[in-house]
Amino acid sequence: MLKLWHQGAKKLEFEKALAKRALVINEALELYLPPANAYPPLIHQAMRYSIKGGGKRLRPVLVMAVAETVGGRVQEVMPAACALEMIHTYSLIHDDLPSIDDDDYRRGKPTSHKIYGEAIAVLAGDALLTLAFSLLAESGRSSPDKIVKVIGEVASAAGTYGMIGGQVVDIFSAGESIPISTLEYIHKYKTGALYRAAVRTGAILAGAEEGQLADLTCFAEQLGLAFQIIDDILDVEGDAAVIGKPVGSDVKNKKVTYPSVFGLKEARAKAEQAAAEALTALERFGGEADFLRQLIRFVINRRR
Ligand code: IPE
Ligand code: IPE
Ligand code: MG
Ligand code: MG
Ligand code: MG
Repeated sequence: MLKLWHQGAKKLEFEKALAKRALVINEALELYLPPANAYPPLIHQAMRYSIKGGGKRLRPVLVMAVAETVGGRVQEVMPAACALEMIHTYSLIHDDLPSIDDDDYRRGKPTSHKIYGEAIAVLAGDALLTLAFSLLAESGRSSPDKIVKVIGEVASAAGTYGMIGGQVVDIFSAGESIPISTLEYIHKYKTGALYRAAVRTGAILAGAEEGQLADLTCFAEQLGLAFQIIDDILDVEGDAAVIGKPVGSDVKNKKVTYPSVFGLKEARAKAEQAAAEALTALERFGGEADFLRQLIRFVINRRR
């Protein structure tokens, strides 16, 4: 009983800490986004609409938390953290387009193309991606060699050997019978690549040593996998009002997912297994990594 109470209290404390970090990120995003009335206002409004629509901010939170774990300062990684959120938000705008997943709701509101039309939604995504790289180039007070390294990491994570590659295979695998290795590829790249880049960005900018970077990379890959398996599960048994996007999108699009291949129970077991591996990868870090450990639990138990 006492143990359960402790678990509940810890969870509440973590959610508060997460909300606090999200608030800091939202303030920084506000600062970095072009003003809504800057010419041509339509595109700036569309960029702001999707960024300000909410979202858990897990990728920028990871940039911050990982930097802290290896002794860096949050302030120095804020531009990079916001850049990761911009790339993620761009990927969502494009993912929802009629030609991709054709979804009408995102972050509890109509999707960008529903409000602004497809042309502006495509361009808002492009604009967020481009702005992200401008931000990275000005990455606070980090040294030029770290900045160049991070730009390379993020570019390849967002590109055809990363998120775009995953999205392409996700699209052409729909309705097909694919080997498990292809399903693993989809998850590793469409979602895992940006998690990996977020974690490595925080670590590199904060000056992590090689060994730390290797363990954090392993943590990120397993966390990304667990995250996407739970996303697939929420698409089946989630509450649309809570996840802020439609339930059943994957079935509608005949997507190959962990639940569609393994069933809900085994899919959840696989997410738990990935979470356990993510936890193991954090072993070398002491209490400094407690936030990251709780974040793994949050990802597994989340309803949103
Ligand atoms: C949704 O990501 C897209 C996937 C990669 C599955 P999130 O669930 O992190 O979306 P937001 O940012 O909280 O809206
Ligand atoms: C999308 O995966 C991952 C991205 C690169 C955006 P999903 O298509 O499953 O994401 P949701 O469920 O629409 O958020
Ligand atoms: Mg998709
Ligand atoms: Mg989708
Ligand atoms: Mg999904």
